[in-house]
Amino acid sequence: MTAKLTVPPFYRYDEHMLDIYTLGDEVLRTKAEKITQFDNALSILVDAMFDSMLEADGVGLAAPQVGVSKRLFVVDTRKEGERIAFVNPEIIQMSHESIAHEEGCLSIPGMYYDITRPAKVTVQAQDVNGKSFVLEASGLLARVIQHEYDHLEGVLFIDRMDEESRKALIASYERRNNKKKKKK
Ligand code: NI
Repeated sequence: MTAKLTVPPFYRYDEHMLDIYTLGDEVLRTKAEKITQFDNALSILVDAMFDSMLEADGVGLAAPQVGVSKRLFVVDTRKEGERIAFVNPEIIQMSHESIAHEEGCLSIPGMYYDITRPAKVTVQAQDVNGKSFVLEASGLLARVIQHEYDHLEGVLFIDRMDEESRKALIASYERRNNKKKKKK
């Protein structure tokens, strides 16, 4: 779906894709606010987030990543039944069992690292119409939910790395960006 969308002017919007904010942008470090209005603007934003996430080949995208500091994220693992928008989500249960798996983030493009997280989570959220639901997730879905939930708290996956590895990742990310800038 890339039909013309009318998006409220406060979103940075380039043609039909939302601009994705990257490491260093303040909005990524800000705790997002609860959503109280389930209106047309919200459903337009959710559609645009799904479109932009798929275009960027992501499996999850949180509203702060598109400059909107609200408690909302979208997930699409490309598995049936796993294309879901979560509004005002709360993780209400986590398994004791944890697993490490490689993660990346559209806001830190090109960088990946093994992050350890609970294997299963139960999340309570609202849909785009404000209707509450509870979902038990495992596998990739559980991982994406936790990663995206972190975004609402201003937390990035690199914060879950040990300090030395994080510094190394940031340094190589910056080197890469500087190279790109020089090319331009
Ligand atoms: Ni991310």
